[in-house]
Amino acid sequence: MISGLDTKIIGKKIVHFETTDSTNLYAKKLVDAGAKEGTVVVSDVQTRGRGRKDRYWSSPKGGLWFSIILYPKISPEKGMQITMSSSVVIAESIKEITGLNPIIKWPNDLLINGKKVCGVLTEIESKDDEINYAIVGIGINVNNELEPELNSIATTLKEESKIELSTTDLLKLILENFDRILSKTPESIRKSWLSYSKIIGKKVQVKEDENMLIGIVSNVDNKGCLILDTVEGPVKILSGDISYL
Ligand code: BTN
Repeated sequence: MISGLDTKIIGKKIVHFETTDSTNLYAKKLVDAGAKEGTVVVSDVQTRGRGRKDRYWSSPKGGLWFSIILYPKISPEKGMQITMSSSVVIAESIKEITGLNPIIKWPNDLLINGKKVCGVLTEIESKDDEINYAIVGIGINVNNELEPELNSIATTLKEESKIELSTTDLLKLILENFDRILSKTPESIRKSWLSYSKIIGKKVQVKEDENMLIGIVSNVDNKGCLILDTVEGPVKILSGDISYL
């Protein structure tokens, strides 16, 4: 499928399906079977694509739906660094290939013109103070049709660029950029992440289960936590859904 991939670790083995339930689920089976770091699972269509919090992820033909297996040597509390790295890689790659300017929306979305174009679902299993594996599932709306109810909140690269992109070329670029980011320091990844997110100083509402907080984002640390200045003082947030106010 991809030829001439220039990477050291990522994509040395690529498993391609026309249809599978979820590339994250298949990647987990490969982990159990001892798959090597950097193995990629990609599917043209997913019948049970999953998003964060077990939400349904629409994955018809024309989109880019794939997962990368990693065995990162970082402590589980730094797991968000993996999502941050992935978001930076995707933002860079989309910018490079389309000239569009994606914005990273904490914690794991990419937006173009305020609409979601990509989501990242990182699934980590850890024991004691070590990560056993991380599966980074990436879904990008490229040339696919959106379900009507998603039209007001989501977009595709085709819609934004008016060009039908090759999903293979985009995947190749993402895998190459992913390979390169593995050797970068958390601080330089954080800086790139901040440059694509433009979140510092923004007033946001964060919802996590039944809890809701409003505040101004004063920082995002290199573990990916949002530091929110609220009326009751600074609060550190590890996960949740944000909306800009
Ligand atoms: C989100 O925004 O909630 C994350 C969406 C992640 C979707 C991708 S598509 C490839 C991989 N396989 C899945 O089932 N989910 C992820």
